[in-house]
Amino acid sequence: MPNPPTVADKSRSNASLRIDGARLLDRLDRLAEIGGGEGGGVTRMGFSDADLEGRAHVARRAAEAGLTTTVDAGGNLLIRRPGDHRRCARPPVLIGSHLDTVADGGRLDGAYGVIAALEVLQTLHEAGAETDHETIAIGFANEEGALFPQPFWGSMVLAGRLDALPSEPEDYAGKPLRDALSRAGGDLSQLKTATWAPGSLTAYLELHVEQGPVLERLGRTIGVVESITGRIHMSVQLHGRAGHAGTTPMEGRRDPLVVAASLVGAVQRLATEENLCRVATVGRMEVLPNSPNTIPDSVRLDIDLRDSDPARLDAAEGTVRKTLADLARVGNVRATIESAVRSAPVHTDPVVRDTIAASATELGFSQETLPSGAGHDAQVVADIAPVGMIFVPSIDGVSHVPVERTAPDDLVAGAEVLLRTVLNL
Ligand code: GLV
Ligand code: MN
Ligand code: MN
Repeated sequence: MPNPPTVADKSRSNASLRIDGARLLDRLDRLAEIGGGEGGGVTRMGFSDADLEGRAHVARRAAEAGLTTTVDAGGNLLIRRPGDHRRCARPPVLIGSHLDTVADGGRLDGAYGVIAALEVLQTLHEAGAETDHETIAIGFANEEGALFPQPFWGSMVLAGRLDALPSEPEDYAGKPLRDALSRAGGDLSQLKTATWAPGSLTAYLELHVEQGPVLERLGRTIGVVESITGRIHMSVQLHGRAGHAGTTPMEGRRDPLVVAASLVGAVQRLATEENLCRVATVGRMEVLPNSPNTIPDSVRLDIDLRDSDPARLDAAEGTVRKTLADLARVGNVRATIESAVRSAPVHTDPVVRDTIAASATELGFSQETLPSGAGHDAQVVADIAPVGMIFVPSIDGVSHVPVERTAPDDLVAGAEVLLRTVLNL
């Protein structure tokens, strides 16, 4: 009878494992067709019909590969190798990203990390590879918060941050998340069942496009992320008094759009003049009734502030609140800040970081250590597990736009590094 494989035998045979690059690229193309627009952008906003279709599509690809898929109560899609956990001595390694997109966004933001995680799992499965930890792939639900303004929804559920989530979340139009979540296979009343305890994962690894210019400028293939930006998202509601644009005297008007316009400028100046935070953006505004010859009745706008220092973020938020109060008083409109979602800046885990760097070196890829200016599920999962992130270059450094692109070779390289890191952890 042959001797059972030793640890050295296993790691020797795992060392030759490679992902199927053509399959990875083809799957990215196929997924981008779901919610794909004429200008090349993709719209699969979290819990929309297109998002559900995208998730079902990925689950089908996983099932065809002989993998098992489940949806947790938070709506996260989990993919496993059947029986994998029975062989394992250590807690699982979770790999993935998010499947939802912003409105008219790119085809890679999030999707790349999930499709690559599926590819890694399938590669391990097809090779019958043995590791001392189970590897689980995840597609997080509603990371962007483009339709339901609860960004990082799925990772917040997984990390057990239930207290920070609204009890009856709604989308921008007031539709309940409860219904949308159950259509996705989740259950708002059972979120607790989807939480993972601190220490229950060996690590969480997220592969993502950089979404910025650093790797391309330096000519590096792999980014080893050392930190992820902190972020505050605020929704501001302004109520004035609607009226006829031709007959209402200028004096005494209560125009919420005029207040909103001043607020947009003030938000920009937080970063450009006052140096209170790294970047500050108003990316969304809703004017009601939005009629060219009516003074608006109300305006809703969304503010996004980012910095790596939580104290600076707090100060910037304080300034926004004070500025809003002052502007509302002068403009005689009622102002409320409806919600504030905050994600703390985090450092990735040094051991995971070193493992990513060593894996990239082993495969002969150039690399650079860099911070992430974008938010990622990894920064939420960091509450309960060591996290690491792998970046690949973004052509022209752009993202959240239809022309978001990465060279095919770089996409394949990133997935190879993900696989190698899973094996080396
Ligand atoms: C997530 O995509 C972010 O806004 O950084
Ligand atoms: Mn994004
Ligand atoms: Mn993303």
